[in-house]
Amino acid sequence: MSNIEQTLSIIKPDAVERNLAEKIKEKFLENELIIKNQKKIQITREEAAEFYKVHQTKPFYDRLCNYLSSGPIVVMILEGENAITVNRKIMGATDPKQADDGTIRKEFGISIDKNSVHGSDSQDNAKKEINFFFS
Ligand code: CMP
Repeated sequence: MSNIEQTLSIIKPDAVERNLAEKIKEKFLENELIIKNQKKIQITREEAAEFYKVHQTKPFYDRLCNYLSSGPIVVMILEGENAITVNRKIMGATDPKQADDGTIRKEFGISIDKNSVHGSDSQDNAKKEINFFFS
């Protein structure tokens, strides 16, 4: 049975800054994810804090919000068969040091903070995150 999903992807400031957006988009396309909508924006510290609210109790929350709002990002709606899981597989582990070969974070990530991409981790969060940027 087919399971077409949508997920939210963000190309983070470290990757936009190094002109990696097109290379990263190619990885999605190679894995049969379609970019349904996309925009390059810079968000405020407050917007980043709202976006990452699920992490508000974590010790890295402040750093994370400062970082996501520190420069331009590309936000995208990706669509395809099992898009949420497929995207997470293409991204690789959160920490680039732990990521498998061939994944975006292994290839381009600098550190656990500057890990080049974000992707929704569940259907619930995908809906919320898509609405956050595209509504
Ligand atoms: P992301 O998928 O955008 O979701 C939350 C981000 O927090 C994560 O990627 C990392 O960039 C960042 N982060 C920083 N420290 C940690 C940590 N110890 N565990 C998980 N995420 C972390």
